[in-house]
Amino acid sequence: MPRFRLPAISLRRRRGKKAGKKGPGGFEAYEAKETREREIREILEGKVSAEAEVEAEADAGAEAEAVNKGVEVEGEAGGTEEEGVDEEVSSAPPNPTRPDAAPGEPFIVCQNLVKIYKIEDIEVFALQGLDLEIKRGEVMAIIGASGSGKSTLLNVLGGLDTPTAGRAFSAGWDLLRMSRRDRIRYKRQCVGFVWQNVTRNLIPYLTALENVELPMLLNGKLDRKRAKELLAAVELDHRMYHTPRLMSGGEQQRVAIAIAMANNPSIILADEPTGSLDTRTGATVLKVFNQIRDIYGVTVVIVTHDHGIANAVDRWVEIRDGKTSSEAVRRYGDEQAVDPEESHDRYTLLDSAGRLQLPISYIETIGIKGPGRMKLTVEGRRIVIEPPDKAG
Ligand SMILES: Nc1ncnc2c1ncn2[C@@H]1O[C@H](COP(=O)(O)OP(=O)(O)OP(=O)(O)O)[C@@H](O)[C@H]1O
Ligand SMILES: [Mg+2]
Repeated sequence: MPRFRLPAISLRRRRGKKAGKKGPGGFEAYEAKETREREIREILEGKVSAEAEVEAEADAGAEAEAVNKGVEVEGEAGGTEEEGVDEEVSSAPPNPTRPDAAPGEPFIVCQNLVKIYKIEDIEVFALQGLDLEIKRGEVMAIIGASGSGKSTLLNVLGGLDTPTAGRAFSAGWDLLRMSRRDRIRYKRQCVGFVWQNVTRNLIPYLTALENVELPMLLNGKLDRKRAKELLAAVELDHRMYHTPRLMSGGEQQRVAIAIAMANNPSIILADEPTGSLDTRTGATVLKVFNQIRDIYGVTVVIVTHDHGIANAVDRWVEIRDGKTSSEAVRRYGDEQAVDPEESHDRYTLLDSAGRLQLPISYIETIGIKGPGRMKLTVEGRRIVIEPPDKAG
């Protein structure tokens, strides 16, 4: 049986390059591209079954993981990270999420999540005890500066990476205690991804419709009617037979949203989906996220550094140094407000260990600098924080 090895081809090519070996070039590169195109065509034409999808998905997962981390993938894709999972299941903590959660019920829950990357002797704390709850059917954003841990968190939520410690649950799954096979199922059926980099979302030589159909074929369930409906939901039904190069950046991202929805996931994860777009085009893409939530009830999590996104989401959570710091929730009846400060109520988040992060603007306003001592006093229902000079 022919095997669908699209992700593996590019993986091998990168390995060769990084290891200092001469990567495929000239005729070899041409041949690899030809093979890749032929394999995709065969899948689209139903000549190849999706029987190899588990392997291809594992490769794709490892590849996405590698791309996200910018690291080499050694050994077989997928690894053995979940070895021993079965023995641990009995002591598994209760899962606060359910696959059939009703709208508004917890659907993604992170508790004290920690991710440490090790580069030789140096440890990088990308997530430092992060707590987060996302409700089913929310369109929410995680906003933070570069390096704050946004992509790390998204990769954990998408099953592309495993955290070092803590707990993470999504749609009834325990993301720390999944078997390799379950992880593949979760990635294929439960979540859809939209990346900033358009070339990572779309295959350039396939039409918009073929691009949406490809993940369906890989999942063994082609549904052309649904593929067309999805393109209509992102307002691109009139462009379905066009290839991405004939489309604008915003249109390509809208196709990417339709692709992410192909296998009817319950969660869409988007990493800087408007990062390469101007403000106006970005706003149309954000409107489409809201549309697909309204039509399909999908939960949308967008990570970005752009505070301008605030108005297009029900809620946003700020992430600082690998921890959630503050939150803003849309007020009912204020959907039309232009200024997010008017449309959303802002809160500072207290974590399970009693810690909170003071907003930087407040710290600057009263002119204090950490680390250092502060004096706290309770006045009725208020906690007053005083800078050292006033504390005496
Ligand atoms: N594979 C890795 N190895 C080592 N450190 C890493 C790795 N991936 C991320 N980091 C580090 O973890 C921290 C969080 O990175 P992350 O990519 O999650 O940030 P981000 O908020 O997505 O940033 P950006 O907005 O620039 O994409 C950073 O300090 C980063 O350097
Ligand atoms: Mg990032």
